[in-house]
Amino acid sequence: MRVLLVGNGGREHALLAALRRSPSVSEILATRPNAGMAPHCTAVDVGAADVGGLVATAIARGVDLVVVGPEVPLVLGLADVLKDRGIPVLGPTAAAARIEGSKAFSKQLMQEAGVPTAAFATFTRAHEAEAYLRQTGRPLVVKADGLAAGKGVVVPGSLAEAIDAVPGLLALGGTIVVEERLTGPEVSVIALVDGLTVRTLPPARDHKRAFDGDRGPNTGGMGAYSPVADVDAALLEAIHTTIVEPAARALVARGAPFQGFLYAGVMLTPDGPKALEFNARMGDPECQVLLPRLLGDVGETFYAAATGALSGVDVRVDPRAAVCVVVASAGYPGTVTTGDPIGGLEQAEDLPDVHVFHAGTAVRDGQIVTAGGRILGVMALGESRDAARDKAYTAVGSLRIAGAHYRRDIGR
Ligand code: AMP
Ligand code: GLY
Repeated sequence: MRVLLVGNGGREHALLAALRRSPSVSEILATRPNAGMAPHCTAVDVGAADVGGLVATAIARGVDLVVVGPEVPLVLGLADVLKDRGIPVLGPTAAAARIEGSKAFSKQLMQEAGVPTAAFATFTRAHEAEAYLRQTGRPLVVKADGLAAGKGVVVPGSLAEAIDAVPGLLALGGTIVVEERLTGPEVSVIALVDGLTVRTLPPARDHKRAFDGDRGPNTGGMGAYSPVADVDAALLEAIHTTIVEPAARALVARGAPFQGFLYAGVMLTPDGPKALEFNARMGDPECQVLLPRLLGDVGETFYAAATGALSGVDVRVDPRAAVCVVVASAGYPGTVTTGDPIGGLEQAEDLPDVHVFHAGTAVRDGQIVTAGGRILGVMALGESRDAARDKAYTAVGSLRIAGAHYRRDIGR
């Protein structure tokens, strides 16, 4: 099978690694691969959001399956065009990707499907939202409707802050969602879905804040681990039954069956698990701890999900724990410098059970250099989370990148 992989970050390197160990996969093409991906795939010089270019490439190269990492091409309708051309794609149509692309749609869907979630109201006018915020008096959360690359949610510290956030968030998408503020630990529950069949993967948790102890600004993710001790088999089953499966069913009922990775951001509240949001894709860096745990022929499993045949596939999981530590450039998540040499990669990779997933890396004059905010995700597998974490940090310790920073408490 020839696979076209769309995207070139840490998530996609993890997808590439899983496809590479699949006997069913003979060749992998990838869009503008980073330095870690490049030796293991055929590079295609097409942007990850260039729907026309991606479809043309898939046709010209006789691709059997397209695996889509990021959400933007999905929301733009990449899967729709590929399906029209008869090319199987792991990633939902634009209509199904609205579960991520529109918070208002997603909340409506959850309400209809009876998925436990925060009570909410939607607004298109600032003064109405403001009146609602004043009248409610309780702490609320304000969200922009559309894709906002992680900048669309404000969890305000005061009523004034909530009101201040309204115009900016309205400007992002024309509609805002104002919802009840929930409390509790968060967990990412991601399922492979072929339309009707939902195969929920083990739980994962990411660390979104930049610095140790969950302090500092929000980032794209500074690390992740899987499994998650406070989500046992019974709780995972409850999340599958009350959150993930009903959402997938509701999309089928709307004539927009979801095929791909359906990601539920879940809060473990005192009243039970509640959905904060859905994403139409794998998480980053959750992917870097989930894909290494998937056993069997991952390419075949992906193909089955893309072609409605997942009911015949048993998704098996390595019981070991995985921990991934993200190494970021100086200044991340703010402005960063790039082009700094990355030393010690081979020593890190040579350690047993360690895999270094590249994110923002490139090759310059034969040397691997930094090329973005998040540089690497250093993942290790272990018999316990402590063992996995020790191995990951040992590997991180052998890297040499000027000014780079990482959290010391991933998986603690
Ligand atoms: P979202 O993109 O909707 O998942 O929101 C991003 C982050 O904002 C979540 O991971 C939570 O930490 C926080 N958040 C979102 N919705 C709520 C809520 N209703 N109550 C408390 N925190 C929330
Ligand atoms: N790790 C959070 C996300 O991928 O959205």
